[in-house]
Amino acid sequence: MGRALAPLPVNPTFLSLFLLLLHLISPFQPVEALGFQFSTFDPSADYGALEVKSPALIYNDALQLTPDSSSGTVDFMNKSGRILYKQGFKLWDGPPEAPTKIASFNASFVINIFRINNGTPGEGLAFIVAPDLNLPAGSFGGYLGLTNATTDGQTSNHLLAVEFDTFKQDYDPDANHIGLDINSVESNQTVPLADHGFDLAPNHTVFFHVWIEYDGGQELLEVYMIDEDESTPTKPKPASPIMTASLDMSKVVNQNSYFGFAASTGDNVELNCVLGWNMTVEELPKGTPAGLVIGLAVGISAAALAVAGVAALGVWAWRRRAAARDPNIVGTLKSLPGMPREFKFKDLKMATGNFDEGNKLGQGGFGVVYKGVLAAENRQVAVKKFSRDELKSKDDFLAELTIINRLRHRHLVPLLGWCHQTGMLLLVYDYMPNGSLDGHIFCGPERQTLEWSHRYKIVAGVGCALHYLHEEFDQIVLHRDLKASNIMLDSNFNARLGDFGLARAIDDEKNSYAELEGVPGTIGYIAPECLHTGKATRESDIFGFGAVILEVVCGKHPWRRAGFDGFQFLADWVWSLHRDGRILEAVDGRLGGDYAVEEARRLLLLGLACSHPIAAERPKMPAIVQIRSGSMEVPRVPPFKPAFVWPSAGLLSEDGDTTDVTPMTSSSRFGSGWRSRDVSKESDAGYNDSSPV
Ligand SMILES: *[C@@H]1O[C@H](CO)[C@@H](O)[C@H](O)[C@H]1NC(C)=O
Ligand SMILES: *[C@@H]1O[C@H](CO)[C@@H](O)[C@H](O)[C@H]1NC(C)=O
Ligand SMILES: *[C@@H]1O[C@H](CO)[C@@H](O)[C@H](O)[C@H]1NC(C)=O
Ligand SMILES: *[C@@H]1O[C@H](CO)[C@@H](O)[C@H](O)[C@H]1NC(C)=O
Ligand SMILES: *[C@@H]1O[C@H](CO)[C@@H](O)[C@H](O)[C@H]1NC(C)=O
Ligand SMILES: *[C@@H]1O[C@H](CO)[C@@H](O)[C@H](O)[C@H]1NC(C)=O
Repeated sequence: MGRALAPLPVNPTFLSLFLLLLHLISPFQPVEALGFQFSTFDPSADYGALEVKSPALIYNDALQLTPDSSSGTVDFMNKSGRILYKQGFKLWDGPPEAPTKIASFNASFVINIFRINNGTPGEGLAFIVAPDLNLPAGSFGGYLGLTNATTDGQTSNHLLAVEFDTFKQDYDPDANHIGLDINSVESNQTVPLADHGFDLAPNHTVFFHVWIEYDGGQELLEVYMIDEDESTPTKPKPASPIMTASLDMSKVVNQNSYFGFAASTGDNVELNCVLGWNMTVEELPKGTPAGLVIGLAVGISAAALAVAGVAALGVWAWRRRAAARDPNIVGTLKSLPGMPREFKFKDLKMATGNFDEGNKLGQGGFGVVYKGVLAAENRQVAVKKFSRDELKSKDDFLAELTIINRLRHRHLVPLLGWCHQTGMLLLVYDYMPNGSLDGHIFCGPERQTLEWSHRYKIVAGVGCALHYLHEEFDQIVLHRDLKASNIMLDSNFNARLGDFGLARAIDDEKNSYAELEGVPGTIGYIAPECLHTGKATRESDIFGFGAVILEVVCGKHPWRRAGFDGFQFLADWVWSLHRDGRILEAVDGRLGGDYAVEEARRLLLLGLACSHPIAAERPKMPAIVQIRSGSMEVPRVPPFKPAFVWPSAGLLSEDGDTTDVTPMTSSSRFGSGWRSRDVSKESDAGYNDSSPV
């Protein structure tokens, strides 16, 4: 074809897989911690970092979650408040039903609950892990600022709390206990404090120093506490916890969650104060520049990594107010061919309800996508707001804009325009009413599963889009992030390859997107050679496409911690069924047998061929399009999955070194059904029906 294929930088998700592998093979794990410390609270500085939901306030060097006697508020009764750290934390990694890693965190804080005028205290205070920065209406009284009469007990609260309860409700053991609350004020587990000689709200001033330690690996939550005479903690952490709970946090909280406190009063009142607060949260792998990934992959030993990965704890500085409008960006935009439409910030702000949480469609490493309605045109749009730090956001924004701006294809999500004002970087896309593909194939029973004709059409559409990117456009464009969550569906269930990047769909009651946040199923979409080269190629895109084909037909994620009948990867499981001559058993059972047998067989075999461990053996897009449509023979897939050999033909390292052949196979259980090959003689002829595939 005569076009040079310049490898694009590595997909940041490669790092997570690499770290996972490292985790599996090595006793050393790099530990990075994020966090913050408040030794006291200062109203002149800390409103920047903390979201303070009225009537809560920062006063007297403390967080006052409900009105404080000296704040001038006369009415203490029936109040609830929350104060949260504004920056969210990523608390787990991987697909929601099979997280690959759950973050550990440690919180330590000092609280003071003060009964007023020796009255009966009420109601209590709680440390919370919340999905957003909101305070539910009507969360006073027994709801502790956690839930309300409507929402209490709903799993959609995504709320985890450790409560310090001073008032006995019907469901409480007493008026002086701590409890673990999951989405509800009815605790899952309680510990009466009288047994430990503690009174949360005695008739004199007592401070409690509390440590909440969550170990994501062990899925274990521990609470330690001790009474202090003064607000400054001096006593050491007790040797044993006062409460221990086994807890898979990923089943409860959102992938991106916020830490903070909530409290309430009812007919009985008290002061609910927090006087100091430290947090450390284990940092889960995010994106990393290509150079680093490659460097890690080839150079640094696991031990050296562990030494390098010394826990870093830092107080976050408030984000500097971004420059209003960067002349470099505007310059670059002006030089783009057929410069796309510029939107006014105020129009987009109005369209998205000031970027309201309720309009959020998806969120990822690079930004958040909101649904909006442009009032003047009565047009629905998806607005992507870039949210990494200023510098990275500029790069993310320009990278996405310069590529997508030139692409025009009926199976790509169309870009409408951009906006760069008040330091914000926004891209505006056509809104896709049916959300993303993963929301339809990994849905629960509440949503009807995609019928076969839609599934077939979707695979065809994605194939078309990929053919355009790889073969038709005047440059080779690599998508690098093919997966179900990046495939959007228009009103007729036509696939549109989305360029929402790492942002992905969510689904709560409010909209039609999948409930889940974050980047699912990264593992399983990555071609094995990418771990060695750190480079994306058309072949690696095709590997990702193979994973998408299999997930659409099987209705399963490409990788699952729990495995598929003992296979970690969906492709390996399908391959085993193929070997046993029962490949159709891989078809999604939810279809109830209602599918076209020949189409399904063809797609499954095509999916396997694209999953070939040797890059050069994977079919190329022109052949894939023909195979999919039935105008070319289905590839002959060997009964045993071939072993992966490195270096693979067509992917020789820069210096052409072929001596360092490291066999790596995820299917050794198959035995050596595939002869080892002289890779240096491998042709790069692409997919060829007479090849042994
Ligand atoms: C507080 O709320 C309770 C229950 O909703 C209500 O009965 C009571 O009158 C309220 N008290 C005040 C002072 O608003
Ligand atoms: C939490 O504290 C324990 C010891 O108290 C420590 O082993 C662990 O590494 C800490 N975790 C984090 C995320 O800081
Ligand atoms: C927070 O950490 C600092 C420094 O380690 C320590 O002095 C302080 O007592 C801690 N505060 C709390 C509430 O644990
Ligand atoms: C409970 O909170 C939700 C969300 O804030 C709100 O929509 C609802 O109206 C509240 N219900 C009551 C009874 O206050
Ligand atoms: C305990 O937590 C689970 C969620 O993990 C919830 O479904 C269950 O209802 C809770 N039990 C009680 C007694 O609150
Ligand atoms: C404070 O409480 C203690 C026991 O809890 C009690 O003996 C004492 O009388 C109380 N003091 C006042 C002033 O109420």
